[in-house]
Amino acid sequence: MKVSTVLPLFVSLIVFSACSSDADEEFEVLLPDETQENSENQNDPDALVGDFTAADYALLSASLSLDENLEDYTVELPNFFFDNQLQNEDNTPNTNPVTDMGATLGRVLFYDRRLSANNTISCASCHIQENGFSDPDQFSLGFEGGLTGRNSMGLANARFYENGRFFWDERAASLEEQVLLPIQDEVEMGLTLAEMEEKLQAEDYYQVLFRLTFGDETVTSNRVSLALAQFVRAMVSYQSKYDLGRAQVNDEEANFPNFTASENLGKNLFFSNRTRCSDCHHTNSFVGDAARNNGLDAAFIDLGVGGVTGNNNQVGEFKVNSLRNIALTAPYMHDGRFETLEEVIAHYNNGVQNSPTLDNRLRINNGNVRRLNLTQVEIQGLVDFLETLTDETFVNDEKFADPFIN
Ligand code: HEC
Ligand code: HEC
Repeated sequence: MKVSTVLPLFVSLIVFSACSSDADEEFEVLLPDETQENSENQNDPDALVGDFTAADYALLSASLSLDENLEDYTVELPNFFFDNQLQNEDNTPNTNPVTDMGATLGRVLFYDRRLSANNTISCASCHIQENGFSDPDQFSLGFEGGLTGRNSMGLANARFYENGRFFWDERAASLEEQVLLPIQDEVEMGLTLAEMEEKLQAEDYYQVLFRLTFGDETVTSNRVSLALAQFVRAMVSYQSKYDLGRAQVNDEEANFPNFTASENLGKNLFFSNRTRCSDCHHTNSFVGDAARNNGLDAAFIDLGVGGVTGNNNQVGEFKVNSLRNIALTAPYMHDGRFETLEEVIAHYNNGVQNSPTLDNRLRINNGNVRRLNLTQVEIQGLVDFLETLTDETFVNDEKFADPFIN
């Protein structure tokens, strides 16, 4: 290595270490020094191959198919999409902004079956890209063949949920907390955090990826959590048919020029006071502002948020996660009870069950359940509208796909 290339790298390392009192709490990126030239000497291990040194890239490429240049996980979202309302829902903490390097490490972790006790299950086993990062099975298979207690959740736009809580019953207070729980779950992946750290530390590609992301090779569960959360937050869907139409009009209530008559009918119903769908599934991410009871049952076996907090007023309340890519994430609801969107609409049309915690949006003034009395054409319109939230770019995007060679 030439002296001129060593010096700036050395200086920048000092600056980085000087300003981070606790390297594990704050997130920082250490990439190869930009001033280093792409060397003509192919055998120089310090020469740059895209964003990596030749030595690092060769080592990574033995296990992973990563582009020479880091994928862009920090795309600027269009103005119509990332409006004030949606910005209020953003749960990205200041201590863990999405970075290209951190999300790349997160992607590798997300697809790595070593995160389960017997190397059979990765996060992606239950969060499948072509299914909007959910699971087409009602309950998901864990590492020893056991089943999860609830339906897997689609992960698109998980970044946007105002109270920042995760899981159907909102038991995780943040995404950083959530991502470590499946690893330790006895049905899902079955590792202790200490076992996970030891396993990952032994892999040479993690030694490279942790060094490039955090400055040294040490694998800690806190670093795993930061990187996985970055990858999940990078999964923003904003290029569906809905978005193409929304970009062409001033507000969502205008007819979209690219929509069929049925899609526009469904959209206008979705945003109407008659259905009030958008009062609970709001913003361009179609998420709730908090958990609610949407009347699936009159008495609850799964108590939802109330089961976690012990508060009777929250029994039967479940997270209102994003409807993005909803046509791909069947079956529906926390227990996967509905197989089709038609069944979901039929529920809201005339199946809502009354109970003390039923949300007021689903009642009329005297407290009784509101019936929508939708016609067959209107039901079809709502289904057609929900299908416009499918984002083919997102579900086919390489940067969210499996990076492992085997
Ligand atoms: C065995 C299947 C399985 C595995 C493996 C799995 N998940 Fe999940 N995931 C689920 C299920 C089921 C839920 C809903 C559970 C609940 O709410 O009780 C869920 C919920 C989530 C949520 C909550 C989404 C929201 O909007 O609240 C996130 C985020 C998530 N998983 C990420 C991950 C990550 C990251 C991994 C890997 C470390 C992972 N999952 C591994 C099945 C799985
Ligand atoms: C009172 C608030 C509220 C209203 C109004 C409402 N929803 Fe929901 N919605 C929810 C909640 C809460 C869930 C999750 C419930 C569960 O899984 O237990 C949900 C779930 C869904 C799901 C399934 C999501 C998934 O990932 O499985 C769809 C689809 C849906 N709603 C569409 C609609 C449509 C269409 C309307 C209007 C006809 C509507 N919702 C009105 C609160 C509401």
